[in-house]
Amino acid sequence: MKLFNTVLIAAAFATAAPTALVADEIGDAIKARQGYYKLIRANAGPLFGMAKGEVEYDAERAQMLASNLVTLTAMKNGELWPQGSDKASRPGETRALPAIWETYPAVAEKGKALVSASAALADAAGGGLDGLREKIGGLGGACKACHDDFRAKDF
Ligand code: HEC
Repeated sequence: MKLFNTVLIAAAFATAAPTALVADEIGDAIKARQGYYKLIRANAGPLFGMAKGEVEYDAERAQMLASNLVTLTAMKNGELWPQGSDKASRPGETRALPAIWETYPAVAEKGKALVSASAALADAAGGGLDGLREKIGGLGGACKACHDDFRAKDF
């Protein structure tokens, strides 16, 4: 009986330690992807502003920002979306809807649309405000299409 208890306790420790580790890894992945999207916004924001006429158009800056979007969206970010990191599992921490995992690979298609929209914008952004305006809708549409389906309004 004593041995049995020891085995049980050992088993409890064996499962407790990795669980704690996994929980941290999930929290870190959530923060990392939110940081990733903040980086995307930091680059997309001024481009939206230029298109609206709220930020002065600057060809060199526009080109740099759009090129950064191409670089950022080229990153394969699958590591940032572990199972169990959805809003239902981690309420208050993330707006990522369970549909991301439940309907996979639908979300990946939205990601591909963002890659194409960034490339199209990068081809035009440095060539004048008209070109930027022509392509900016594609970028905004790609953000919105994914947020509509896969991002909750609240945490
Ligand atoms: C493939 C889907 C997808 C695309 C495309 C996408 N997003 Fe998101 N975005 C998300 C999801 C999901 C979250 C929620 C992440 C979380 O809370 O864990 C998010 C969160 C964000 C956040 C909030 C980050 C924070 O502070 O929590 C910002 C800002 C953002 N996105 C901006 C953008 C912009 C700008 C674009 C387009 C240029 C874009 N996103 C395109 C899925 C996407």
